[in-house]
Amino acid sequence: MKILGIVGSLRQGSFNKSLLISAIDLAPKEMNIEIFDLGKIPPFNQDMETNLPESVKEFKDKIISADGILFATPEYNYSIPGVLKNAIDWASRPFGQNSWENKAVAIIGASPGMQGTARAQTALRQTFTFLNVYCMNRPEIYVAKAADKFSADGKLIDSETKDYLQKFLVEYEKWTLRMNK
Ligand SMILES: Cc1cc2nc3c(=O)[nH]c(=O)nc-3n(C[C@H](O)[C@H](O)[C@H](O)COP(=O)(O)O)c2cc1C
Repeated sequence: MKILGIVGSLRQGSFNKSLLISAIDLAPKEMNIEIFDLGKIPPFNQDMETNLPESVKEFKDKIISADGILFATPEYNYSIPGVLKNAIDWASRPFGQNSWENKAVAIIGASPGMQGTARAQTALRQTFTFLNVYCMNRPEIYVAKAADKFSADGKLIDSETKDYLQKFLVEYEKWTLRMNK
């Protein structure tokens, strides 16, 4: 099973990137998660959508060839980061060539705050409605107080979160199989 992992943070020490890397380690053995670096994606410009930048073409191809997409999103001002929305917008275009269509998607997220990206995840689900993706409703995962749950070198050290993430990924594997039938 090919899963494309997307992190909505370009920050070197990103908790969300660390969470996605932990997911790679904890995923069921048939699930292979490859991370796509959003740093390569330029700001969206609708004038360019009939002649897409190479990095966007590559991004769209990776999405299309994946069985599912796993998003690790930070929460910025109660929503998703612009970097992530920008990438989502590119891959939804040009009109009629929405690469997200019918993809089996799941969301994970980590924040140093108490809500653990709950509001960002809700905002992302709203966008997914229009993109016509199959976003797993439950289980949900919100990693709050992230600074206590990762080591200085980005390892997930909280055993409860690790167990939960592992179970989450088992459910996501089942969801992806169902949505790709
Ligand atoms: C522009 C900006 C807005 C933020 N807004 C929120 C917010 O609404 N809720 C929240 O929990 N954290 C917020 N934060 C803090 C982020 O959760 C924190 O920087 C987190 O580490 C970002 O994820 P990352 O570690 O993957 O880069 C904000 C951070 C930035 C830079």
